[in-house]
Amino acid sequence: MRAAHWVPVDSPARTLPPSSSEVGEVLVDWFATAARDLPWRRADVDPWAVLVSEVMLQQTPVARVEPVWRDWMGRWPTPAALAATSPAEVIRAWGKLGYPRRALRLRETAVALTERHGGVVPADVAALEALPGIGTYTARAVACFGHGQPQPVVDTNVRRVVARLVHGRAEAAPARATDLTDVAALAPADPERAVRFSVAVMELGALVCVARTPRCAACPVRQRCAWRLAGYPASDGPPRRVQGFAGTDRQVRGRLLDVLRTAEGPVAAPLLDDVWDDAVQRDRCLDSLLTDGLVEQTDDGRFILPV
Ligand code: ADE
Repeated sequence: MRAAHWVPVDSPARTLPPSSSEVGEVLVDWFATAARDLPWRRADVDPWAVLVSEVMLQQTPVARVEPVWRDWMGRWPTPAALAATSPAEVIRAWGKLGYPRRALRLRETAVALTERHGGVVPADVAALEALPGIGTYTARAVACFGHGQPQPVVDTNVRRVVARLVHGRAEAAPARATDLTDVAALAPADPERAVRFSVAVMELGALVCVARTPRCAACPVRQRCAWRLAGYPASDGPPRRVQGFAGTDRQVRGRLLDVLRTAEGPVAAPLLDDVWDDAVQRDRCLDSLLTDGLVEQTDDGRFILPV
């Protein structure tokens, strides 16, 4: 077992066994006082706006998402509006959010919603999961936060909370089917509170029960936390990978797309050569952008965003 890289400053004095839905009730009350005021959580936000926010928030911090989400919702307030937009325009509006394939997939989702669902975001989890680009997490997030259905909504932060609170482990195991039942078991019985619980447990993972330096002293359910009761055992999994950005293909792809996003028309290859010195890496990244459908080549060999 690896040595603990971090030991929380919190006395393990009072101990209570983890009890299920009571934990959920405590979290809902905590959320009422501690929640961030995020625009996609407001009462007047519709399921489409929630869907867009959830796709943008995957692997992207809230602060970067907020301005892009506002811009998108202003321009494309309905699935039909986005479906009628060109891929190039959608990639441009995605700006520097990263992982730009999400922009194309979101447009495909909008097309499917328009063609199959009359432009309305369905409330049914199975119907949501059948849409392109919508997986287990996003389908439940939209059903829950967009349609007010009590659903377990499990992202990385929630899996970490459950790993600690329920299973006494420092870190989340890889995603597995029991994640949903683990979370559902903690939810309050009242449906409205169960909806708020789903966002509350996510917020706990984002603000308090964070990966590297959890703020256990500020945790509303610390007295029921199995990890704390077990004396904060260190992770026995492989060391966490720290994902760098500088020098990665992601960075190079981003630079290539930046040039195409801001260009007036098709761009000749030498202009793209300027963005990165390593020609092998640059060519590999350009190839992957072509394969992903994020870039197209004109008949005369220049490069352009897909029209
Ligand atoms: N509220 C609802 N879903 C969220 C998410 N994915 N990240 C942050 N806040 C959220």
